[in-house]
Amino acid sequence: MSATLKSLRALSDPTRLRIVALLEKDELSVNELQEISRMGQSRISTHLGLLLDSGLVQARREGKRTFYKLSDQTSGASGEFIQLAIRGAKELPEHASDQINLKRIVNRRREQAQVYFNQVAGRFDRVYGPGRSWQAFGHLLLRILPPLVVADLGSGEGLLSELLARRCKRVIAVDNSEKIVAFGAAKAKKNGLKNLEFRLGDLENPPIDPQSVDLVILSQALHHAAEPAKAIAGAYKILKAGGHVMILDLSRHTFNRAHELYGDRWLGFPESDMHRWLEAAGFKKIEISVVAREEQSPHFETILASGQK
Ligand SMILES: C[S@@+](CC[C@H](N)C(=O)[O-])C[C@H]1O[C@@H](n2cnc3c(N)ncnc32)[C@H](O)[C@@H]1O
Repeated sequence: MSATLKSLRALSDPTRLRIVALLEKDELSVNELQEISRMGQSRISTHLGLLLDSGLVQARREGKRTFYKLSDQTSGASGEFIQLAIRGAKELPEHASDQINLKRIVNRRREQAQVYFNQVAGRFDRVYGPGRSWQAFGHLLLRILPPLVVADLGSGEGLLSELLARRCKRVIAVDNSEKIVAFGAAKAKKNGLKNLEFRLGDLENPPIDPQSVDLVILSQALHHAAEPAKAIAGAYKILKAGGHVMILDLSRHTFNRAHELYGDRWLGFPESDMHRWLEAAGFKKIEISVVAREEQSPHFETILASGQK
């Protein structure tokens, strides 16, 4: 049967005209159509089957539910058929109640979606949200980064370096542990990150040419340096004019076991020390603030310090 004949046949029944008119503004499930039209489920399913077959209506599966809506491809004759069907439906005695019920169901659906957010308002940032993570936020923020050349000093196996390499022009990861450098380099290779290079070296005197990078990162690395001030001065040296240093480290704390547990040399730093070292190295536009506090004891605080050459 031709498409035109199928459409004409599909629209030759008042119930199907009602369904087409209901699907005009929103997609609906069989249950919703049932609730709106007060018709039985099997009757609705039969009519939907014919409408699907005609191509005037399309279905979308969402988990266990199926939603129906008017076809996206209703140009030419089928578009005209639909307009005629909607006009015809308006002449049916059920039209007014169909429209009132439709509005009620659509409003209820909207309210259901809002119930959850109304419940968690005020604590939403702290509750679990599917797919919401700092890692995902990190990727989002990365997209606004220009193509920088970055030095990640005390990089570890490259958690941050790898993330940066997906966006930056080049990343040089420096660490003084041979094993970590070998592991990080192998992982970068496996992940196809050709612009990420691992180098064995000390963060106080990194094996990087002077004035060659746009950004130096020291993430939880400075508290391992014998002389943190020297490491900051070293960062200044390898930065191009106008380049930035970003330091994530622990705020001064009293958790002495960090020495044995994490191999830390320093128990974090007071913000004043960090400021003094950055200033002494020659950095301008210095900004230092606490950006995170752990909920569990000993409540480590993370400071973010930055400056520009
Ligand atoms: C706590 S991890 C931080 C790793 C990474 N930056 C991060 O934020 O996930 C500290 C890293 O610094 C390295 N490290 C410690 N002292 C160093 C030094 N003097 N020079 C270079 N790397 C050093 C360690 O091998 C380790 O991989």
